[in-house]
Amino acid sequence: MTPARTPLLSATDPSAVAQAAACLRAGGLVAFATETVYGLGGDATSDAAVAKIFAAKGRPQFNPLIVHLADATAAAALAEISPVAERVMAAFWPGPLTLVLPRRADCPASLLVSAGLDSIALRVPAHPLAHALLAATGLPIAAPSANPSGAVSPTLAEHVRDGLDGRIDLILDGGACAVGVESTVLDLTGPRPCVLRPGGVPTEALAALLPDLMEAGPAQPDAPRSPGMLTSHYAPTAAVRLNATTVASDEALLAFGPNPPLGTPRRMLNLSPTGDLLEAAANLFAYLRRLDVLGARAIAVAPVPMAGLGRAINDRLQRAAAPRA
Ligand code: TXA
Ligand code: MG
Repeated sequence: MTPARTPLLSATDPSAVAQAAACLRAGGLVAFATETVYGLGGDATSDAAVAKIFAAKGRPQFNPLIVHLADATAAAALAEISPVAERVMAAFWPGPLTLVLPRRADCPASLLVSAGLDSIALRVPAHPLAHALLAATGLPIAAPSANPSGAVSPTLAEHVRDGLDGRIDLILDGGACAVGVESTVLDLTGPRPCVLRPGGVPTEALAALLPDLMEAGPAQPDAPRSPGMLTSHYAPTAAVRLNATTVASDEALLAFGPNPPLGTPRRMLNLSPTGDLLEAAANLFAYLRRLDVLGARAIAVAPVPMAGLGRAINDRLQRAAAPRA
């Protein structure tokens, strides 16, 4: 259970890193200092831990999260590393640069960190405390900025406590963040490298290494390139029918809660038989994909309540059901 008051451990406490690593390995949430801003970390390989990150931040949407690694060699297990990616990593890691790369087919990270996309954002932070924590967990750690959705990113441990006290398990105090703005997000999945978010590494420094560098249109700090991108690229192949109370024989069913719609087909997955929205969020992207490969004409989706993580779940389902481009 998350404590009523979140403990704040100082980096000078010799057991702080070990305690924080144990908490992360047990599926808990730990805010920790990086050189850019404080991150809200959870085990990136755990659907449940990643769902808890979204719940703690109160995000109304599933934006993809950055996965933090102790060193560049760990990246190869998660993403396809092109020669260009290798050069960029050698030049800028550890440091305030995030790379969006194609997910490996056998990527162990939760589909929720990618918000259902076929790409994954990776970063090796330079802050010694972040490095020590990542090395001690031995896990890829998903970490958005450690603030409630819509609030300013925290650059002091006290900021984290102001925003998330009682909603997370631990805060690891590493002092003030030296860079103070988020990492630069560089997308290497397209034909040309593209800056999706300006940040700690200046665009000029990237352009010196990447002559064909592009910049994304008007800054969209928390959207992957454009709001339509999730819809057009990652809607299931099957049609998606929302708020279904009945199911046709040529449909698969994505159910929610203890009372699935009548006519329940063989092709059914239940996001959470007990009606737990955290469990439903954790299962959402994986279940959509599993139902989609069954070849049904459509995926009927039972109603999901618009409360807590239900907002983000419904937002994603509406994108999946939107008319195709
Ligand atoms: O400096 C930082 O980057 C901080 C520290 C904690 O490392 N983290 C951070 O995370 O700012 P967050 O979740 O607040 O921002 C993640 C950014 C968003 O703009 C998101 O859209 C983008 O990265 N992003 C993540 N995965 C992506 C993907 N697969 N494709 C496109 N954009 C992605
Ligand atoms: Mg943020």
